Amino acid sequence: MKVVHTIEELRDQLRGQLRAAFVPTMGHLHPGHLALMRMARQHGDPVVASIFVNRLQFGPNEDFDRYPRTLQDDIEKLERERDVYVLFAPNESEMYPEPQSFRIQPPEDLGGILEGHFRPGFFDGVSTVVLKLFSCVQPSVAVFGKKDYQQLMVVRSMCRQFQLPVRILAHETVRDTDGLALSSRNAFLSPQERAEAPRLYATLQEARAQVKAGRIDRAEIEGSATEALTRRGWNVDYVVLRRQRDLNAPTAEQIQQGEPLVLLTAAKLGTTRLIDNLEI
Ligand code: PAF
Repeated sequence: MKVVHTIEELRDQLRGQLRAAFVPTMGHLHPGHLALMRMARQHGDPVVASIFVNRLQFGPNEDFDRYPRTLQDDIEKLERERDVYVLFAPNESEMYPEPQSFRIQPPEDLGGILEGHFRPGFFDGVSTVVLKLFSCVQPSVAVFGKKDYQQLMVVRSMCRQFQLPVRILAHETVRDTDGLALSSRNAFLSPQERAEAPRLYATLQEARAQVKAGRIDRAEIEGSATEALTRRGWNVDYVVLRRQRDLNAPTAEQIQQGEPLVLLTAAKLGTTRLIDNLEI
């Protein structure tokens, strides 16, 4: 695997390649990321991964400074798996040589809700860096995890509206054996919090069971899931039932008629904020 730190080196490596498959990450790689790399390998050649902790998508009081940075360890993991041909690991001045005053701003009805509401500017930061990374790598395919469900929708919408020649593929969320979605932020959980963390997914499964059993009152479904988590000490930002196609709230008739739905949640255990989702 070639590890490159500058855009010039990256372009040298990729010159003439029209079928590159790309996996952007912020590092501290876990088996969920490695699954994205494997999927990329099935859909393009060469596989390019990036590791860049993007300051632009962190709010002023968020965990940018303590976000785990484990480049050497990540390189070893990627070398063992042998799926990635080029790893692009730029530093901040390579990605942002001047203040990033041009930004992508996703539409409010997609980028301003849920994560975008609780993390203002988050999707501007994500879209802007993803566009820049696409411009550096020029992939034909890029792979994103479904764990960041709204991010996946924002990126898809950006590619559609800007007619970017990149096909976006989604990989199912990879979970630990107890159901907890793999995330770099799980590293922040204390042993006690780690033991509690699978409740987030279990709560979504219970809510899904209610919908499947015929419950159609959205507010009640969301309310009982929120209450169940709050009672156990979680600080819940949201548990919502939304339409898969646009993340708008479904009507009772749509729930009844089997509209494809998704439960989405974000909640804090101590100081660690976890997100998860479950399609119905
Ligand atoms: O999902 C992530 O790790 C990040 O949001 C991404 C897509 C790499 C952009 O910084």
